[in-house]
Amino acid sequence: MSYGLLKGKKGIIFGALDSNSIAWKVAELAHQEGAEFVLTNAPVALRMGELNGLAEKTGSDIVPADATSMEDLGKLFDHTLEKFEKIDFILHSIGMSVNVRKGKEYTDINYDWLMKGWDISAVSFHKVMKTAWDKDAMNEWGSILALTYIAAQRTFPGYNDMADNKAYLESIARSFGYEWGNKNKVRVNTISQSPTLTTAGQGIKGFNGFVDFAKEMSPLGNATADDCANYCITLFSDLTKMVTMQNLFHDGGFSNVGVSEMVMNRFEK
Ligand SMILES: NC(=O)c1ccc[n+]([C@@H]2O[C@H](COP(=O)([O-])OP(=O)(O)OC[C@H]3O[C@@H](n4cnc5c(N)ncnc54)[C@H](O)[C@@H]3O)[C@@H](O)[C@H]2O)c1
Repeated sequence: MSYGLLKGKKGIIFGALDSNSIAWKVAELAHQEGAEFVLTNAPVALRMGELNGLAEKTGSDIVPADATSMEDLGKLFDHTLEKFEKIDFILHSIGMSVNVRKGKEYTDINYDWLMKGWDISAVSFHKVMKTAWDKDAMNEWGSILALTYIAAQRTFPGYNDMADNKAYLESIARSFGYEWGNKNKVRVNTISQSPTLTTAGQGIKGFNGFVDFAKEMSPLGNATADDCANYCITLFSDLTKMVTMQNLFHDGGFSNVGVSEMVMNRFEK
């Protein structure tokens, strides 16, 4: 069912890798709700070719861009603005830690890898917004969103340097959100999503066990990628115009639970 929530809205969606990706679900739903957009991902991710199907289904162009490269981002925005003149929404759904990928412990971190993961997972959000800023790309009352995780506030062993990257990402949302609001009423938020079975998610050590733990801790259970897409659409729509500079938990209640009965029962003697 479509509510036409994004009718007439244009945007850019970063980070759809395969049909499990959160960005993939957002693209499908944004299309259903009437939006037009450009899809983008790192050139290396596009080599797999999976994105072509999504582009066809949603009538979108694909423009390769490494989100850490100002040159690539410049070309991406030029292409997009030529097509749409201005845009209304941006989804930053990008994350990667080389230390996580290579199984390096937090106490034995490789700093070159840390810098790379930080650039991809956090600073790229600033780079995307700076490119949009310099090119005056956003319509008034537009909406910019990034995805994050509660490890930015609390310790989750195994999440490694991604925890620090997410804390930085959330801070960028606040700092740049202030500037955008004053400039032309554009809002900037992060969504702190439940653990979700995607390529990025599954890279985390002990992830599957953790998904079950989070489910038992959360009164509503874990939010799925489809649930997340629904939430993203509301945040791109005109129904949430006054929400900005927020980190919004989308986690079935997990973030406010100390302990659940279901988890406690496991420890009852
Ligand atoms: N899966 C989870 O449990 C979970 C939970 C909370 C938040 N998140 C966040 O959601 C976002 C999307 O992740 P996902 O779970 O859909 O996984 P995913 O692996 O499908 O998406 C991650 C994307 O980042 C892209 N990417 C990596 N390096 C890039 C670069 N240099 N330039 C451009 N794109 C690049 C990848 O190609 C991929 O499309 C990430 O920010 C992730 O941290 C995920």
